[in-house]
Amino acid sequence: MTDKYKQFAIAPMMDWTDRHCRFLHRQLTRHALLYTEMVTADAVIHGDRERLIGYDPAEHPVALQLGGSEPSKMAEAARIAADMGYDEININVGCPSDRVQSGRFGACLMQEPDLVAECVSAMKQAVSTPVTVKCRLGVDDQDIETALDTMADATFAVGSDALWVHARKAWLEGLSPKENRDIPPLDYDRVFRLKQRLPNQFIGINGGIENLNQALELLAHTDGVMLGRAAYHNAGLLVDVDRRFFGDGSSPVEWMTVRDAMMEHAARHVAGGGRMVHITRHMVGLFHGMPGAKRYRQILSVKGPGVDAGPEVIAEAFDAIRFGEQLVA
Ligand SMILES: Cc1cc2nc3c(=O)[nH]c(=O)nc-3n(C[C@H](O)[C@H](O)[C@H](O)COP(=O)(O)O)c2cc1C
Repeated sequence: MTDKYKQFAIAPMMDWTDRHCRFLHRQLTRHALLYTEMVTADAVIHGDRERLIGYDPAEHPVALQLGGSEPSKMAEAARIAADMGYDEININVGCPSDRVQSGRFGACLMQEPDLVAECVSAMKQAVSTPVTVKCRLGVDDQDIETALDTMADATFAVGSDALWVHARKAWLEGLSPKENRDIPPLDYDRVFRLKQRLPNQFIGINGGIENLNQALELLAHTDGVMLGRAAYHNAGLLVDVDRRFFGDGSSPVEWMTVRDAMMEHAARHVAGGGRMVHITRHMVGLFHGMPGAKRYRQILSVKGPGVDAGPEVIAEAFDAIRFGEQLVA
């Protein structure tokens, strides 16, 4: 990747950006890069691959995020992901949960840039698919100038294709993962400085981006913007991404097409023994701010979890929305 290339991505979010969520997001934007939830390298190697990292071909471009820090295992997991057709493989250097720390991966790897670089290097040797890193500004009492520069330099030196930076520290002691996404202060300027220092490397920014206008402003200083919670809770904002970020206004989103695609997807899932709620739970925020959204949410939340629920729940929910008025983006 080069500095000429601008990217819009939807962040990896455990328990949220599963294949059903990504399928929904893909109906709203053809170009945004979609990240999976983090999956550990061990799980990829030993687990039920179809269940853990299976995806629908419609999801491309899609990146698998791996958790781990053993270079040989990361390389093996990367090989599996590349064989499955993933478009990018990303290393998690940002997740602060205790479970992750005891496995020596996630945000605590901010203290081990050489080990992260060994992983990148092993993965680059194993696959031709882009290998990228997602990190924090630093952890605990690290100096964010040196911590971030060191991580960037170590990983780019061995060929990392991008560094996505969640623009806040993680505090490994005393904060829950959720608090660690809100309490350590955001510092976008620190990411801009990194980009200025490394003009030829892809530097993406993440953290607290609420809407597309803000994302466009940040993109003026970086190569990519990554939205997490805003994209999930207010997925309707994604309908303007192709036009505003990729200059592609050729196929504006038709809500009835989205509805039909989700119903077909749901029918396949239910026929395979899956539950409707696996899909409807991600759709609740779709019409945030639209007339009829409250009723839409009620229908999905009450009927979606029913054991006999089928795709018709989606049709009924969409009927509650009074289309024709502008989405609040
Ligand atoms: C429910 C949830 C799960 C998350 N899981 C992951 C994860 O698996 N890997 C990761 O790198 N970040 C994870 N994150 C962090 C997001 O990728 C992102 O960095 C963070 O939410 C900040 O971006 P935002 O303010 O746009 O949400 C998660 C965030 C949330 C809300």
